[in-house]
Amino acid sequence: MSEVLSHNQLAAIADEFGTPLYVYHAEKIAAQYEKLKDAFAGQDVVFFYASKALTNINVLRYIKSLGANIDCSSVNEVKLALHAGFAAGKILYTSNGIAFDEIEEAKNLGVHINIDSLSNLEKFGKKFGHSYPVGIRLRPNILAGGNLKISTGHDKSKFGIPVDQFEKIIDCVDKNNLFIQGLHIHTGSEIKDADVFVKGIEKLFDIIPHFKELEFIDLGGGFKVPYKEGDSETDIHLLAEKVKESFANHPNPRHLQIWFEPGKFLVSEAGYFITRVNVLKKTSSTVFAGVNSGFNHLIRPMFYNSYHRIENISNETGPRKIYTVVGNICETDTFAEDREINEIKEGDYLVFYNAGAYGFEMSSNFNSRLKPAEVLVKNGTPVLIRRRDVFEDLLRNQLEAQ
Ligand code: LLP
Repeated sequence: MSEVLSHNQLAAIADEFGTPLYVYHAEKIAAQYEKLKDAFAGQDVVFFYASKALTNINVLRYIKSLGANIDCSSVNEVKLALHAGFAAGKILYTSNGIAFDEIEEAKNLGVHINIDSLSNLEKFGKKFGHSYPVGIRLRPNILAGGNLKISTGHDKSKFGIPVDQFEKIIDCVDKNNLFIQGLHIHTGSEIKDADVFVKGIEKLFDIIPHFKELEFIDLGGGFKVPYKEGDSETDIHLLAEKVKESFANHPNPRHLQIWFEPGKFLVSEAGYFITRVNVLKKTSSTVFAGVNSGFNHLIRPMFYNSYHRIENISNETGPRKIYTVVGNICETDTFAEDREINEIKEGDYLVFYNAGAYGFEMSSNFNSRLKPAEVLVKNGTPVLIRRRDVFEDLLRNQLEAQ
């Protein structure tokens, strides 16, 4: 089964379901998961899909069917995971900056919990003592990731308890007799260099012996996928080798399982965002191709300056010309500047690649525009997995004051 959807397939799906439209390709998700499993074969590694990348319950169910566990960043993601059929023991809730009652709610649902502040660790200890295992999210003070907005491990980041506050952590753990089951670090997203993960592990080795009941080390997510032509992804085989080597160099009295939380790696390339060209506008400097979407549907280019390959699937063989692709939002809303694309006519379909991760998931109703539909293609068959918003959705939660 091919790992990519062809232009013809995408155009037929757009004809059938309309645009703008997110399309996900199940077999590509499976291929990415297999790559991970294959690279780490023989090591005691568990993968938790970072569901924040894409939470449609059909995608969650599909990923569950592959055998993966799931990582959640809010208690609502935990509830979606349960709804999709994941057993509580396969769900990890990595909280950050949340009120203690959400941690309690997660505890009542019976899932694994990583706590990322001393304050919540203390509250957890006071209330539950040794009765419920927890992981600690540490900030390794390592700067890595595609850009600063998606770097989470550096020494100015809000995420995790800084490793240099180690003594305070130990005080809290001892005082409250906490059952520390795991240590977690996540340095950021789009980390190509396997050595960053190794550096993270190295930061943990001094600390590990202090936790007598430790069962896992969670190295987070952040594997890079190729966005541009010529880009490469994190070399997962090399990463697996280096992780193995690193643990072999620091033998532990206890066996530790290794956890990862890949988001983009599993779903980014499996996703396509199909739009239609509303208007072509020629100016003295630029030819704008204005599509029937905007940063309300795909915010990554405007928010992270990220690159998404764009192709005109309505004119595969046309001459290459330069376009600036923009949205219809009443703000500067640029998807790509001066990009070479096959000649565009109004009405053509433009496809944005790598749209599976943080695409639909970060969409909004800004400008009172409707969110797109989502389709999952499995075994060659496209199935609608979210209907397009309708006007009534904009009014759904609004109340008439009088
Ligand atoms: N684990 C934790 C604790 C995380 O914070 C994240 C991502 C992941 C795993 C998954 O990272 P991934 O494998 O997807 O890189 N919206 C941004 C990415 C933000 C990632 C936030 N945390 C983007 O569109 O690039």
